[in-house]
Amino acid sequence: MARKTVIAGNWKMNKTAAEGKALVEALKGLVADVCPARAEIIVCPPFTTLGAVAEAIAGSNIKLGAQNVHWEKSGAFTGEISADMLKEAGVEYVIIGHSERRQYFGETDATVNQRLKAALNAGLKPIVCIGETLEERESGNTEKVLAAQLSGGLAGLDAEVVAGLILAYEPVWAIGTGKTATPEMAEETHRFIRSFVAGEFGQAAADAITIQYGGSMKPENAAALCAQADIDGGLIGGAALKADSFAALVKNAIAAGQA
Ligand code: 13P
Repeated sequence: MARKTVIAGNWKMNKTAAEGKALVEALKGLVADVCPARAEIIVCPPFTTLGAVAEAIAGSNIKLGAQNVHWEKSGAFTGEISADMLKEAGVEYVIIGHSERRQYFGETDATVNQRLKAALNAGLKPIVCIGETLEERESGNTEKVLAAQLSGGLAGLDAEVVAGLILAYEPVWAIGTGKTATPEMAEETHRFIRSFVAGEFGQAAADAITIQYGGSMKPENAAALCAQADIDGGLIGGAALKADSFAALVKNAIAAGQA
């Protein structure tokens, strides 16, 4: 079944408002010919850069995402942000449970689940991140770890909701290291993720759900990764920080995904 290619740039803690605006101003022209019916292009800047980027991409085929969302509507949660605040800033997508949030900020599958439900209730489109560490892969626990992240993270959701989700499989050992999973290795894991979703939520949800790959995806390896049957796009860190490399990656990924 044909799924849309979805490429999201996770800017992490990079780009001031002025820098972010300049990046998307350049990116807009480079990806103007990408048809939104074939592919989604998303940028996820830091919170204080959202406004400037929202303004710069208005009317273009680039969509806006954020990097985190809290589960409460408001209150005493210093440093957090609510779904309504993101909506007001023009945000459509939100990354939830990135491995850096899990590693440095105590994010768990339970908090991922809470954030996910709040995002869905507010009408945001979540990008839910899962992935194993090197130690977990080397000890043969990859599938066990991913199954636990999926069961905990997606707990209580209906199959129709799961069908519309974006998952990002990011092996932690491939993030920012230059070590990409080989296309075959990534595909094997993506196939496992899709079959796990089929087991929990049914085949229709598994066929419809978008599963991105993330971890050192670059213009040079995007085609080989996105040509795999169960890889539907990418969540991009380093290569999303420059307009030309992100645009080249987007085009290579789309061409391969729809070949
Ligand atoms: P890199 O593309 O820099 O490896 O980062 C991947 C990532 O963590 C995207 O969320």
